Amino acid sequence: MKGIVLAGGTGSRLFPLTRAMSKQLLSVYNKPLVYYPLSVLMLSGIRDILVISTPSTVPLLRALLGDGSQLGIRLSYAVQDEPRGIADAFRIGADHVGDDDVALILGDNLFHGAGFARRLQECAAAPDGCTLFGYPVSDPERYGIGEVDGDGMLVSIEEKPLRPRANNAITGLYFYDNEVVDISRRITPSARGELEITDVNREYLKQGRARLIRLSRGNTWFDCGTHDSLLAAGQYVQVIEQRQGVRVACLEEIALRMGFIDADACYRLGEQMRQSDYGRYLTEIAYALD
Ligand code: TTP
Repeated sequence: MKGIVLAGGTGSRLFPLTRAMSKQLLSVYNKPLVYYPLSVLMLSGIRDILVISTPSTVPLLRALLGDGSQLGIRLSYAVQDEPRGIADAFRIGADHVGDDDVALILGDNLFHGAGFARRLQECAAAPDGCTLFGYPVSDPERYGIGEVDGDGMLVSIEEKPLRPRANNAITGLYFYDNEVVDISRRITPSARGELEITDVNREYLKQGRARLIRLSRGNTWFDCGTHDSLLAAGQYVQVIEQRQGVRVACLEEIALRMGFIDADACYRLGEQMRQSDYGRYLTEIAYALD
C-alpha cells in the first residue's frame, strides 16, 4: 500500500500565521504539524509516501524530512500549484500509486488513542473499496457527516447538514483500493472549482463498497485548521506527553517500533538533536523499548 500526505492549501483561516508559513510547518507543542499525519501512515505500516504541497513549501518539507531514509521509509514530493481539492491528490499522485492501494491523510489532521495503530494496520491489510473514519462531534452541521448501518457500511454522506441524521464527522484519513485513481479522473470539479473527496466517497457508496469506522472513546482527532483547534491540539499533546511520559508522533520512535530502523540508528538520530528533550528521549528509548 502507498501513502499520500496532502499538505498544501492556503490555510486562510489561520491568517496571518500562514501568510508566509505553511500550516503544516506550524508547531503542535514540540514538533511540526506534518509529523502527526506522517506518523499515522507509518503506524499503518506504509513505507512509500508521497508528500504533496505548494511550490514554496515543498522545499521546506524536503529540508525537514529529506528522502525518509533516516526513518527507513521512502518519501517523495510533488507540487500542487493551486488548492484544487483533496481528490486532486490522486491525479497528482497517480504514478506514485501505480497499481497499489493507497491511504491518504490530510496534512493538518492529528489522530491519537488506544488501539488506533492496530486499527490502521487492519485497514491497510484488507483495503476493499474505501474505509473512512468517523469521529463523534457535537456540532455536525459544521462537517461532512457519515451515516452507517449495523455492519459499519456507509449509507449516506451529508455535507454540513442542517438537520443531521448522524454525528460522525468524516475525518481526513481515507483508505482506498486502486480504483480511486480512476474515480478521481472521472469526477468533475464542484462549483468552487475543487475536486471534492466527497464525490469520490459517494461513488464508493453507490457501489456499496464504503465503510466507516467510528472512532470510539479513548481516541482523539483534531483538524488543526483554526487557531483554537491548533492550540487545543498542542495542549493535548503537551498533557499526554508530560503526564504519561510517552511521545505522540515521534517519527524515529515509530520507525524503531515498526522495525523500519534499528536501535543504533535511533540512538544516532537522537544524538544529532541531543540539545532538545526530543533528541534525549530518542537516546533513552533506543535500547529500552517496552
Ligand atoms: P482545508 O483546511 O480545507 O484548507 P486549507 O488548509 O487551505 O485551510 P483554509 O480553509 O483555512 O484556507 O484543507 C485541509 C488539508 O488539506 C490541509 O492540510 C491542506 C490540504 N489541502 C491541500 O493540500 N490541497 C487542497 O487542494 C485542499 C483543498 C486541501
